[in-house]
Amino acid sequence: MKAIIQDEYGAPDEVLELREIDAPVVNDDQVLVRVHAAGLHAGDCFTVRGAPFPVRMVTGLLKPKYGVPGYDVAGRVEEVGCNVKRFQPGDEVFGACTGTCAEYVCATEDELAHKPAKLTLEEAAVIPTSALAALHALRDVGKVWSGQKVLINGASGGVGTFAVQIARSFGAEVTGVCSTRNVDSVYSIGADHVIDYTRDDFTQAGQHYDLIFDNVENRALTDCRRALAPDGTLILNSGSGAQGFRFLVRLLKPLVLSPFLRQNLRRYISVPNHADLVVLKEVSGTLIPRIF
Ligand SMILES: NC(=O)c1ccc[n+]([C@@H]2O[C@H](COP(=O)([O-])OP(=O)(O)OC[C@H]3O[C@@H](n4cnc5c(N)ncnc54)[C@H](OP(=O)(O)O)[C@@H]3O)[C@@H](O)[C@H]2O)c1
Repeated sequence: MKAIIQDEYGAPDEVLELREIDAPVVNDDQVLVRVHAAGLHAGDCFTVRGAPFPVRMVTGLLKPKYGVPGYDVAGRVEEVGCNVKRFQPGDEVFGACTGTCAEYVCATEDELAHKPAKLTLEEAAVIPTSALAALHALRDVGKVWSGQKVLINGASGGVGTFAVQIARSFGAEVTGVCSTRNVDSVYSIGADHVIDYTRDDFTQAGQHYDLIFDNVENRALTDCRRALAPDGTLILNSGSGAQGFRFLVRLLKPLVLSPFLRQNLRRYISVPNHADLVVLKEVSGTLIPRIF
């Protein structure tokens, strides 16, 4: 089969190659998917580059251990292992697993769900990682409820566009932060208010939000806390932009401080799973996937 291969970490145009390799073989618990579309998101850039360095704890310390990049997929089931119960050959599926930038990929049952009927395979392929990250942040970490004032920093990105729509579906009053060229698009997916970060600074506007979901982390912690209600929750979801020791400080400082504050400062890791892919499938009629 044809696959994108990466033997070392580096810039995508330098380390990614299209090559012919053996197709994967399913074990008893796996599903072989013929890939129709592989969605790419910010996390794929980190894993291809192997930076920031801590991502290598998962992807391989000195060189990439998976070889084929890509996590998000939509396609058709080609073959199933003998223990697989939910899927059969011919089913259209979407999900998140390792090595999706290839003609075929093996996934476990828990990493997949049936594709939402209303979406194309291309649209379904951009949902898993980004929409699950938004769902897990807002539903599980932020426990957002109707009437809350929620601010999404990075509202025009992969995670942010789903976060705006999911927060609105929970009944929150949503403010999105993005650049000028994306203001209309963030309104169009349901934001009540949009702040253009090239003109205004949400941390200086005197507003206080019950929940801030920060997908950019380009502001000092004290700035973000100024825009947070006294008992509000700040969910930090990037950590990028800093390197080495500064990266670790940025990652850990909010978690160390949080127990001593009324405000709740949180980080989280979104782990894709079948049950939540089904949740997304069920709300897919109201979610607009944006393909950039
Ligand atoms: N916790 C988890 O398990 C998990 C899971 C998935 C992703 N993530 C993380 O989530 C983060 C966001 O991912 P993504 O896929 O949404 O990235 P993305 O698609 O690249 O989006 C980046 C966003 O940042 C905005 N932005 C850039 N500069 C900004 C500024 N100065 N002020 C405000 N906004 C600015 C962009 O807005 P404009 O384009 O309008 O400038 C865009 O909305 C990444 O760090 C990723 O690693 C975490």
